[in-house]
Amino acid sequence: MSIVDLEAIPQVTLPFMNEDHREEARLLNELGDAVKGHRTGKVPVETVLHRFEALFAHTQEHFGREEEAMRQANFPPYPVHKGEHDRVLEEMEAEEVHFRETGDTARLWSYVAEAVPAWFVAHIQSMDAMTAGFVNMRRGG
Ligand SMILES: [Fe+2]
Repeated sequence: MSIVDLEAIPQVTLPFMNEDHREEARLLNELGDAVKGHRTGKVPVETVLHRFEALFAHTQEHFGREEEAMRQANFPPYPVHKGEHDRVLEEMEAEEVHFRETGDTARLWSYVAEAVPAWFVAHIQSMDAMTAGFVNMRRGG
C-alpha cells in the first residue's frame, strides 16, 4: 500500500502546485517502497539513498517554484512560507545524513511513512492553499 494516495492529495487552485504535489507524493511512495524492501533485505541501501536524493531534489525544485510565484505576486507572508520550506529541507537533509551514517531503517521509516506525509497534507491545506488563492487573486483569476 502506498504511503500517500495520489488521488486523495488535497487540491489547491494553481495547477502547477498540484502537479508538483503529485510528483512529490509519487517520489515519497517510491522511497517508502525502497525502505520497506531494504528492511527485509530485498533492496540494497544504494537504492534507498538514490530515491531519497530524488525526493530531496524534487522537493527543492517544487519549493523553488512556489517561492518564485509568491515573490512575483508580492505575497506578504512569503517569509513565513519560505521559512517553513527551509526548515523542511534542512530536516530532510539531516534525516538523509543520519540514515547514511547509522543505517537506522526504523527511524527512516517513521520519517518517510509518518512525519513527511502528515506534514505534506497539513502544509498543502494551510500555507499552499492560502498561497494559491492569493497568487490567483493577484493574477486576476
Ligand atoms: Fe509550500
